[in-house]
Amino acid sequence: MVQPKLVVCDHPLLKHKLAHLRDKRTPPAEFRRLMQEAGAILGYEATRGIGSRKTSVLTPIKASPAEVLAAPVALVAVLRAGLGLMEGALSLYPEARIGHIGLYRNEETLNPVRYYVRLPKDLNKSFVVLCDPMLATGGSAAEAVRILKMDGARKIALISLLAAKDGIRRVHQDHPDVAVYAAAVDAKLNSVGYIVPGLGDAGDRLFGT
Ligand code: PRP
Ligand code: URA
Repeated sequence: MVQPKLVVCDHPLLKHKLAHLRDKRTPPAEFRRLMQEAGAILGYEATRGIGSRKTSVLTPIKASPAEVLAAPVALVAVLRAGLGLMEGALSLYPEARIGHIGLYRNEETLNPVRYYVRLPKDLNKSFVVLCDPMLATGGSAAEAVRILKMDGARKIALISLLAAKDGIRRVHQDHPDVAVYAAAVDAKLNSVGYIVPGLGDAGDRLFGT
């Protein structure tokens, strides 16, 4: 049986950025920049799972043993708020193929509603980093993983800025093979499904809507 994996990244830089992302006074331009930077740190942690394969290269002096990534990387953003995290992860691996999954939460049921899916080819051969900054009920992330798997993805890591305990439980219940990388775990959701203390509505804060 697969042991579900949760990694809470404890790097002080990430904690510092999260403090400013949580702060309600942080304006959209700064929020976007911080979200990108957090995406690079979380993407760095998540891509440890790819592994490497041995090769050799010719330096200007002589042949040298080297290691390269064992699989290509695909980055998939859950729209809208996943775009911010994905930009940061992309700075680590600019060759990545990119996919988009459009989901929004129905405000009454909190169930995800799908409105757009466009994914790169050959997902089955790629290491997929799914970017969704907020894991609240976990419904959106679980649905995004289901869509990726339907398209052939086999190795998936989820990066989230904030994860609520309920959301982690939901993703791991539906997809125990998916490792979750988060900057922090918050204890609960409020009566309208927002993470407490959270950072508010990530999409609205990113895009100033
Ligand atoms: C937010 C967030 C996640 C989702 C998390 O998206 O970006 O995708 O909510 O909630 P869940 O874990 O309960 O499913 P939202 O539906 O607000 O759409 P937006 O990013 O377009 O604002
Ligand atoms: N989506 C958000 O953007 N924030 C939350 O707290 C929960 C879902």
